[in-house]
Amino acid sequence: MTHYINIGQLLQVRNPKKPLIGNDFNKLPLIENAYLSIDKQGIISDFGSMQNFTNPNQDKTLDVNGKIIMPAWIDSHTHLVFAASRADEFVDKINGLSYEEIAAKGGGILNSAKKLNEIDETLLYRKSVVLLNEAIKYGTGAIEIKSGYGLSPEGELKMLRVIKKLKENFKIPIKATFLGAHAIPEKYNKNDYIDLLINQLLPVIAQEKLADYIDVFCEKNYFSADETSKILEAGLKYGLKPKIHANQFTSIGCIEKAIRHQAISVDHLEIMKNIDYKILSNTNTIATLLPGCSFFINIPYAPAKKMIDYNIPIVLATDFNPGSTPTFNMNFIVSLGSIKLKLTPEQAINAATINAAFAMEIQDTYGSIARGKKANFLILKNYISHYNEIPYFFATNPLDHHIIN
Ligand code: NIG
Ligand code: FE
Repeated sequence: MTHYINIGQLLQVRNPKKPLIGNDFNKLPLIENAYLSIDKQGIISDFGSMQNFTNPNQDKTLDVNGKIIMPAWIDSHTHLVFAASRADEFVDKINGLSYEEIAAKGGGILNSAKKLNEIDETLLYRKSVVLLNEAIKYGTGAIEIKSGYGLSPEGELKMLRVIKKLKENFKIPIKATFLGAHAIPEKYNKNDYIDLLINQLLPVIAQEKLADYIDVFCEKNYFSADETSKILEAGLKYGLKPKIHANQFTSIGCIEKAIRHQAISVDHLEIMKNIDYKILSNTNTIATLLPGCSFFINIPYAPAKKMIDYNIPIVLATDFNPGSTPTFNMNFIVSLGSIKLKLTPEQAINAATINAAFAMEIQDTYGSIARGKKANFLILKNYISHYNEIPYFFATNPLDHHIIN
């Protein structure tokens, strides 16, 4: 047993059974001047106010001298496995081209796919290890990672095998999402490609247990709502629940299809029609917002406040990828949540911890401080004395220690 004592604020002390909305989402339960006890198995066994702290067995105590302790960030939407940066397109963008214009001239996702198909699996794995270790150093304690830069049977399987190996070799929980329907590869017409995804790739992915979820980039010039529906249905037959890219540039009926297939989450949602809010409210589907993408490619920010008014549960994630969001810094995303989406610090922190745990279906073991949950928490540096300062000190890394198990 190890006791962390003299914690200035112990954040997110609760154990909800559903994603937070309404009043619960507006509040961040905490204990000031607290202790936190972790048993030998790496499980939270006790916590409370220092007044009630006793140590009859003379276990090890670690005095954190007033620092904040909080559950680790949960990044429920990333494309962390990729072969190369797209910094050349970044320069095109600075010189005036839009994300869509870059894609239209052979850049974008197809550019990443070309490089992914050239790189060998060992090197791809090694590059991914570097990035994942870096994300963990910024406080990410659980992560979802998508395929989608392969766009060929070999490429997609290569990506998913790399993710599987990350799962085996890292202590944090990792979920894999099959995003074969990320773009239409040059060699195929769309129907043939969808056919290949459904009839050739899905059976292998299921057989080798390479994915937990299925994703589609449901968007004009990519996959229509009906095509999305067809792909999700096929995925569900193999037990892959949907988490989809929707409403990033246009609203074309994707949310409705996602809900019909009981999606865990719909992600992006920068462009929302009135009907979209109505469809999404009172469902079990979570809205995952990715303000780092809006920041980097200069598109509108998701209308989070209006979603909250409709009682839609909100999650914040990075969308870490080489094209639209080259950051894995969850702390920065939480700042953008507050600064750009106008989430209060309480809401932003809830969105990036416990609600995000629901978006990865790990809410029973991660995402908050509760007895029986895994010890996966952050000790913050002492320039953070109140949780309001977490989004306030934007683009900094306030992490002092990340304790995993
Ligand atoms: O979530 N929008 C689709 N996919 C990624 C970007 C992919 C890329 O540009 O490489 C996203 O923003
Ligand atoms: Fe994405």
